[in-house]
Amino acid sequence: MNRLIDGYQTTTLVYAALGLGLPEHMGAAPCTAQELASATGAPPGRLFRLLRALAAIGICEELPDASFALSQAGQQLRADSGSGLREKAILAVEHYWPAWAAFEHCVTREQTAFAAAFGMTPWEYRRDHPRLGEAFNTWLAAETRANCASVVAAIDVARTSRVADIGGGNGGLLRALLLAHPHLSGVLFDQPHVIRQAAASFGEEFGSHRVQFAGGDFFAQVPVQAELYLLKSVVHDWDDADAVRILRNCRAAMPAHARLALIERVLPERAVQAPATIMVDAQMMAITGGRERGLGEFERLLRHGGLALRGVTHTAAGFAIIEALAP
Ligand SMILES: C[S@@+](CC[C@H](N)C(=O)[O-])C[C@H]1O[C@@H](n2cnc3c(N)ncnc32)[C@H](O)[C@@H]1O
Repeated sequence: MNRLIDGYQTTTLVYAALGLGLPEHMGAAPCTAQELASATGAPPGRLFRLLRALAAIGICEELPDASFALSQAGQQLRADSGSGLREKAILAVEHYWPAWAAFEHCVTREQTAFAAAFGMTPWEYRRDHPRLGEAFNTWLAAETRANCASVVAAIDVARTSRVADIGGGNGGLLRALLLAHPHLSGVLFDQPHVIRQAAASFGEEFGSHRVQFAGGDFFAQVPVQAELYLLKSVVHDWDDADAVRILRNCRAAMPAHARLALIERVLPERAVQAPATIMVDAQMMAITGGRERGLGEFERLLRHGGLALRGVTHTAAGFAIIEALAP
C-alpha cells in the first residue's frame, strides 16, 4: 500500500530528471554530480541527492566511485531512444496529473476530471499547447510502433489496394502497413494541426502516390475514399453517441464493399484478466469521457453506425481487430 500511495514521488522524480535534462547529459560513460552540475547549472549537493533518489527508484545506478550511470530503464527517457516514454512522463505531470487529482469528479458527475481541471477537452488543450500536442502524438506513435507488428500481421490486405487510417495521429500504424505491403497506398486522416505534424514527420519516406494526408473533423465528415477504414484507439475516446457519429460518417464515405476495422482493447469480464485495459478505461473516464468496451458493446456501436460485425481477431499486443462491413 505504501508503494502505491508513493507513486506521485516516482512520477515527479522522473519529471525533475527530464526538466534538468539529465538523461541527455548522462551519456554512455558514468558521470559525477559535480560534472552534471556544470552541465545543468544546478548546485552539486542537491543534484547528488536527486541522483541518489533516481538510483533508489532504478532510473540510474550509483557506482562505488560516487558517479552515476543511467540504468536500462533510464536510457528509455532519452529523446533518441524512440520509446516515447520521455513524452509520456511530461504528459503525466503537465497534462494528466491535474485531472487525475480531480478523479472523484468524473465518478460523481457527468463531466470528465480533465474538464473540471482545465475547463476544456484534452483535444482543445493540446491544440492550444502545441508542445504537449507534439508530445502526445510522439508518445502514441511510439506505442503504436512498439505494439503494431501483431496488428499489422493480422490485418488482411491481400485484396485491398487502399487503406484510410482515420484518427491516425502521427501515422504509426499506416507507416507500418505501407512498409509491410508494398502494393498498398493509404491516406491519413486526423485533425488539421495533427496532420501538419504527421506529414512533416513522414517526410519523403513514401511518395505521394503511396500516402496522402487529409485534415478535418470526423464529426463533420470523413472525406476520404478507401477499401479499408482503420480506426485504432479512436472510438474508445468517445461516449456511445459520439462514437456512433464517427462511425456513421465513415459509413457515409465508404464505397460499396469497403470494410472498416476498429482496433481496440476489449474489456475483460474481470479486472484481474486484463488490468492494463481497466486502467485505460479509468484514464478514458478521467480525460476524454470515452470508455473501453466489451465485444457486445462494439457490435452494438457498429450496428448503430450502419455497419455489420464481420469478425474479430485478437492479437498478441492486446488489441482486437473488430471488422465490419456496410450491409
Ligand atoms: C487516441 S488517438 C489515436 C491515434 C492513433 N490512431 C494511434 O492509435 O496511435 C485519437 C486520435 O483521434 C484524433 N481526433 C480527435 N478528434 C478528432 C476529430 N474531431 N476529427 C479527426 N480526428 C480527431 C486525435 O487527434 C488523435 O490523433
